[in-house]
Amino acid sequence: IKADYDALSRAAAEHVIKRINEACPTPEHPFVLGLPTGSSPIGMYEQLVKACKEGRVSFKNVVTFNMDEYVGLPEDHPESYHSFMHRYLFDHIDIPAANIHILNGNAPDLEAECAAYEAAIKSFGGIDLFLGGIGPDGHLAFNEPFSSLTSRTRVKTLTNDTRIANARFFGGDPESVPLHALTVGVGTVMDAREVLILCNGHGKARALQAAIEGPVTQAWTVSALQMHPHAIIVCDEAATYEL
Ligand code: GLP
Repeated sequence: IKADYDALSRAAAEHVIKRINEACPTPEHPFVLGLPTGSSPIGMYEQLVKACKEGRVSFKNVVTFNMDEYVGLPEDHPESYHSFMHRYLFDHIDIPAANIHILNGNAPDLEAECAAYEAAIKSFGGIDLFLGGIGPDGHLAFNEPFSSLTSRTRVKTLTNDTRIANARFFGGDPESVPLHALTVGVGTVMDAREVLILCNGHGKARALQAAIEGPVTQAWTVSALQMHPHAIIVCDEAATYEL
């Protein structure tokens, strides 16, 4: 538990830096990082960019897999997760373009796209560290309430709650938020060797309570992490109000 968003962002970034540096990654044995979007990780990304510019960490031998992407939103739309990741991270660090993996929400065959993504993760030996956020309804990536806790990468229909929560990025209109997304599954996240979840603000307090103190249930998909051997939640004081 950190005092505020700034402290949370710094702590999460330092954890990522430590893990990458202690792994001493090489082109043959890269460090494999799972990445989220949303407002929660922005501060952490700023810290990672700063550390990279200061030479405290390099992403040359880091391979990334993003959690999710909207279906049908052009890649260059400002709110696509492709645009988001380039804006906040990839355009400012030394990662080779070939090391970046983001689901293609405009692929002609979405099921094949998801299967290929799972295969690509496997081809790198799995994910070393999966970073994530939580939706106010406890969703992890776009694994909405009642997603199977063993789910894999697939197409999901977004709930009204999520479209309302994300409307702030689409001019305030929930109808403008795409109805579908591609997302890694809860099972995909659970396979990672370590998971680190960021959770800040009072709006996430109920989700954090369900994640930690509630039962493991597909009603709050993030609660699956109770079963993970190496899961960390970094939160601020405001998110702990229901604990
Ligand atoms: C979206 C993303 C999730 C993210 C959630 C929370 O729904 N698909 O991965 O955790 O938003 O976003 P925020 O961090 O903006 O609260």
